[in-house]
Amino acid sequence: MTASLLVEGVSYAYPDGHVALRGVDLTIPPGERVALLGPNGAGKTTLVLHLNGILGGAGSAGGAGAAGAPGDDPGRVEVAGLRVEKAQLAEIRRRVGIVFQDPDDQLFMPTVAEDVAFGPANLGLRGADLDSRVDEALRSVGMHEHRDRAPHHLSYGQRRRVAVATVLAMRPEILVLDEPSSNLDPASRRELADILRDLPVTLLMVTHDLPYALELCPRSVILDEGRIVADGPTGSLLADTALLAAHRLELPYGFDPALAASQLTARGALEDSTRGAAEDPAQRSAARGVDA
Ligand SMILES: Nc1ncnc2c1ncn2[C@@H]1O[C@H](COP(=O)(O)OP(=O)(O)OP(=O)(O)O)[C@@H](O)[C@H]1O
Ligand SMILES: [Mg+2]
Repeated sequence: MTASLLVEGVSYAYPDGHVALRGVDLTIPPGERVALLGPNGAGKTTLVLHLNGILGGAGSAGGAGAAGAPGDDPGRVEVAGLRVEKAQLAEIRRRVGIVFQDPDDQLFMPTVAEDVAFGPANLGLRGADLDSRVDEALRSVGMHEHRDRAPHHLSYGQRRRVAVATVLAMRPEILVLDEPSSNLDPASRRELADILRDLPVTLLMVTHDLPYALELCPRSVILDEGRIVADGPTGSLLADTALLAAHRLELPYGFDPALAASQLTARGALEDSTRGAAEDPAQRSAARGVDA
């Protein structure tokens, strides 16, 4: 089976010589949900920016010569079997949607609605189809009533929600979120979890919010100093106090990952028995924007 995301031996140094990634290997099969954890400066955002060629080795938009550590091999990144290189970037960016860590990197149009319409319009959507795509994405993040406002007049948390909508509107098959829950109020955090849980996508979610990782991602990967230092079931990683301490990861005070996991399992079993139609493969494909 072709991996949704394949990262092989990827190293990266910024132009000032700072080495951010040191031989990262990561394979994510279709439909899997993976949390990318690690302390500040670990290289999480740098890795994310390799997934659609914003950064990378020779041939990507990031330009040549960006490798540099260790050795000069930048490694290989593939999205749905397509090598991330200049000639394929348009197709790759149609398949993988990235919500950046800073919403201000994502929003650049005069109004919220125009920002959300920008991507689907580039895909060729027009008229009523485009309007309904924009409305649906904005409603899903609870920002529909702000559709005609200027993004720079919104609060940070509101801009973050709009940034998520710009990517949801593209209906990508692979969704990458860089700290989606930061700066969200508790209700918005919960509502975003509800959206993400039901999306029929491959998910890579960078987060410092360990309960969020446990809730949404069965698998987690810990990156530290540009290297993957752990990769396994989220519940097991979060129960390993020595591992967490070694990589500056901390659970919220009083949070018991084993108890939370058993509660999530119980709730998941209940939800599965009532969900039914949402598991219909035709619906899943439609939600992804491809023909069944
Ligand atoms: N433009 C840049 N030029 C030079 N060094 C950079 C640049 N951007 C990031 N770095 C460095 O690369 C390393 C990895 O940064 P990155 O932003 O990927 O970390 P992160 O894991 O996303 O951290 P955070 O949790 O704070 O978001 C850091 O040491 C950082 O200082
Ligand atoms: Mg980051």
